[in-house]
Amino acid sequence: MTRIVILTGAGISAESGLRTFRAADGLWEDHRIEDVATPEGYDRNPGLVLQFYNERRAAAAAAEPNAAHKALARLATDRRHQVTLVTQNVDDLHERAGAPEVIHMHGSLFGALCARCRHRWPAPMVMRTTDLCPDCGHATCRPDIVWFGEMPHHMERIEAALRRADLFVSIGTSGNVYPAAGFVADARHAGIETLELNLEPSVGSRFFDRAVHGPATRIVPEWVATIFP
Ligand code: APR
Repeated sequence: MTRIVILTGAGISAESGLRTFRAADGLWEDHRIEDVATPEGYDRNPGLVLQFYNERRAAAAAAEPNAAHKALARLATDRRHQVTLVTQNVDDLHERAGAPEVIHMHGSLFGALCARCRHRWPAPMVMRTTDLCPDCGHATCRPDIVWFGEMPHHMERIEAALRRADLFVSIGTSGNVYPAAGFVADARHAGIETLELNLEPSVGSRFFDRAVHGPATRIVPEWVATIFP
């Protein structure tokens, strides 16, 4: 039984047509993080924030899982391996590709959260500032996304999986944002083999034992094929 922890980022969904963050045409080129991805930005202008995520939710719903998502789903459902699939992404393409369990450390576009009472419920496709929390009744509805300055979800579970893994694989992430960017150092410290699959070297490339660079829809299925002899 091989225990594999896989971390994915926006790059795995790029070939499904979803924008990444830090490419030349990235989301952070035409939106300021402080305006649309912080609690302070939401307090200042909730309409702008809800619109930003309404557009991303519509794009995610219209997108299809690609060969990389499907290859990881095949690996995650194979009983000969224990795969912990962690994603920074807030789309649902891993689930729609058939991955049995996905740890969304930055939340999900398809979840809603009350900024006042922290109640959670499935997000409507379009969230409006006039929406009322189903629990406390206040107009404080936000997407259940982890914003800058907020704690990512499921960290204890991720760190426990990293400690007992045989292999850590990072796919489609630039390695710019912690704590995910620190997983490779944690894995190396624990003596775990590390592999980077990305379009180009990430910020943390030098920490990986091995790296394969190219489009995810080619290099991820090729890597998975080496696992299934
Ligand atoms: N195949 C493989 N990798 C790709 C592809 C592709 N087709 N296209 C882009 N990439 C790579 C880029 O080279 C880059 O290294 O995906 C990475 C995307 O990096 P970012 O845009 O920084 O996205 P990500 O690393 O997921 O960002 C992490 O930052 O803004 C926050 O919360 C947000 O979860 C996000 C976090």
